[in-house]
Amino acid sequence: MSYTNKVIHSGYFNDTLRQWQCQNTQITSLNLMYPIFILDEKDVREEIKSMPGIYRQGLNHIKAMLDPVVESGLKSILIFGVINKLSKDQYGTHADSFENPVIQALPLLKEWYPNLVIACDVCLCPYSSDGHCGIVENKQIDNVKSIKRIGEIALSYALAGADIVAPSCMMDGHVTAIKQSLMKENLLSRVSVLSYSAKFCSVFYGPFRDAANCAPSFSNRSSYQIPVGSSSIAERVVDRDISESCDMTMVKPGMMYLDVVRKVKDKHPNIPIFIYQVSGEYAMLYHAAQAGVIQLKEGLIEILRSMRRAGGDVIVTYYTPEVLKWLKDVSIL
Ligand code: PBG
Repeated sequence: MSYTNKVIHSGYFNDTLRQWQCQNTQITSLNLMYPIFILDEKDVREEIKSMPGIYRQGLNHIKAMLDPVVESGLKSILIFGVINKLSKDQYGTHADSFENPVIQALPLLKEWYPNLVIACDVCLCPYSSDGHCGIVENKQIDNVKSIKRIGEIALSYALAGADIVAPSCMMDGHVTAIKQSLMKENLLSRVSVLSYSAKFCSVFYGPFRDAANCAPSFSNRSSYQIPVGSSSIAERVVDRDISESCDMTMVKPGMMYLDVVRKVKDKHPNIPIFIYQVSGEYAMLYHAAQAGVIQLKEGLIEILRSMRRAGGDVIVTYYTPEVLKWLKDVSIL
């Protein structure tokens, strides 16, 4: 029998040998961030219909929900405020009022989980009467007013204890506006900015808009979110946010945009890249598994590994609690 270099060894026959072939695509608790929805009604807990298994809950339910996840190794969360009772207006007044559920939750979360990294989504859409991500004047986004307001909201979350502020509004200049407002309060050394830089105008946010009660009341978000077919806008927006000194950047949604992740990683190997596996991706997988078309665990791990392989450092996923439980099983990771 003669050896030929045309034969590629494919018998990765044990865990260690398999892992050696998969350097830098492993999944650990550091690679996961868990998004949670906090309601302005303290005692309410309701399942989100379009995201079975995911709840929005008031402050009185948060600890019971998070305790077991922290226990299984959770390192970071991303908080969204949802208002049912508080009023909405053009300027999103309740995005950073004392009654805002995020502002109320932050000091408690810090007390309960001193080592948990807490990121806050910063956007107007859950709080503005028109459901848009910036301030609307005469049916048009007013960029200057929007980023000023985004800077104020981010500062309030930072002062209330957030470790990371994460603008998801796609308003030009949002990183600079936030950095400037953090600087005024001397918070730059304690608070990082994770910019949702490459946020595509996706239909896969549908379930989230149910969850956060934030669908736009007129038009859509195509004037400020990236057209699905454009990788070059995404690359330019990431470059811009990095040049404005964001600490971390994000591509969103996940699975359909891994080409963009790879391009960003190749160009900026040293900045952490987050990938948001969004609500529609969650729901799609959930229903495929329910229908018996794929196994949830194996399917999800394959997707998460592909995200790591594409260059994603941290994956924001609603499946974080499940994945943390599976991490002990080395053969799948
Ligand atoms: C708000 C925001 C959205 C998501 C995160 N922040 C929705 C949107 O832009 O319409 C989507 C998250 C998800 O779908 O899971 N700006």
